Amino acid sequence: MGPCLSAIHLASRCLVWPLLVSSLIIPVAATAQTIVSGPWGDIVDHQKPLALVTDEQRVTLFRRNQMRAISGHFRSIEAVVTYRAPFSGTLEADANALAAAARTLSSLFPQGTEMDPGKFGAKREIWQLPEKFARHTVSFRQSVERFSTAITTKADLTEPLNAIRHECLACHQAFRSFESSQ
Ligand code: HEC
Repeated sequence: MGPCLSAIHLASRCLVWPLLVSSLIIPVAATAQTIVSGPWGDIVDHQKPLALVTDEQRVTLFRRNQMRAISGHFRSIEAVVTYRAPFSGTLEADANALAAAARTLSSLFPQGTEMDPGKFGAKREIWQLPEKFARHTVSFRQSVERFSTAITTKADLTEPLNAIRHECLACHQAFRSFESSQ
């Protein structure tokens, strides 16, 4: 038994033990899904596997990630147009991605996928006022198309971008709950 296994030996060369022991324990304690192996070694993915039970939860997961993608493309465009980040060459790709997401948006709200009571997310009004909701999805898509046209014709992008933002805000105001609705 080496000197480092004795509790009273805490010389600096022995301090490696706690680290070594814990690095040996992690792979055993973690499930297979949380280890992502590859050329950089076995890496723990700290984002736990999601416990999805119903199809409604799967739809909501996808829809929220689509919204985050929409947000990422919109915010990237805004960084260039409004805040003059020097990446105007990326505008078209972001606008195309936004247009693709806008085209599929209306299909992401099947019946039964409203938010859980008291939580945040998709309001019941989406299904109670389907025609109004449809007008918002169409109007959003058209605003994105006008923005793309403005890129092509090299027109000023400030107003078309503002028009997209108006659509985000208007739809969220009517159909999205941001906080607990107790
Ligand atoms: C036609 C309606 C509509 C439009 C247009 C719309 N959204 Fe949303 N958005 C929603 C709804 C409804 C939710 C809630 C979805 C849920 O939680 O299931 C949401 C959620 C979000 C979320 C939160 C996602 C999450 O992880 O909880 C973000 C961010 C977001 N939208 C950004 C945007 C941006 C940016 C735009 C405009 C470029 C936009 N949205 C346009 C309806 C819309």
